[in-house]
Amino acid sequence: MNALVKEPVVAWTDVGAVTDVPLRGARRVPAPGGDIAVFRTGDNQIFALRDKCPHKGGPLSQGIVHGHAVACPLHNWSIELATGEPLGADRGKGCAPVAPVKVVDGRILLGVVRG
Ligand code: FES
Repeated sequence: MNALVKEPVVAWTDVGAVTDVPLRGARRVPAPGGDIAVFRTGDNQIFALRDKCPHKGGPLSQGIVHGHAVACPLHNWSIELATGEPLGADRGKGCAPVAPVKVVDGRILLGVVRG
């Protein structure tokens, strides 16, 4: 997995409730290193990626979530939410960095990393 940064998480920031993110949708969270897209899948799992498509920088938070992937709104690349990697014919053509995220008591926590 291509993590956003390799340094360990030093703190977790509450960015809202799981239910604040629509099912099969996403929410953009501003962050110092660049916006983060937080996704909620149809089976109620939460993923987070840098909000920047590895193709030409499209806003993944505005894409369509299908299964455990998101279709970029610009040119329809399908990006795997767990790894940030393009699927299908575009596999291996870059990666949207994965942001550390976890859910505690229905709240979404984004990891703050050292550095
Ligand atoms: S910018 Fe995402 S598919 Fe082109």
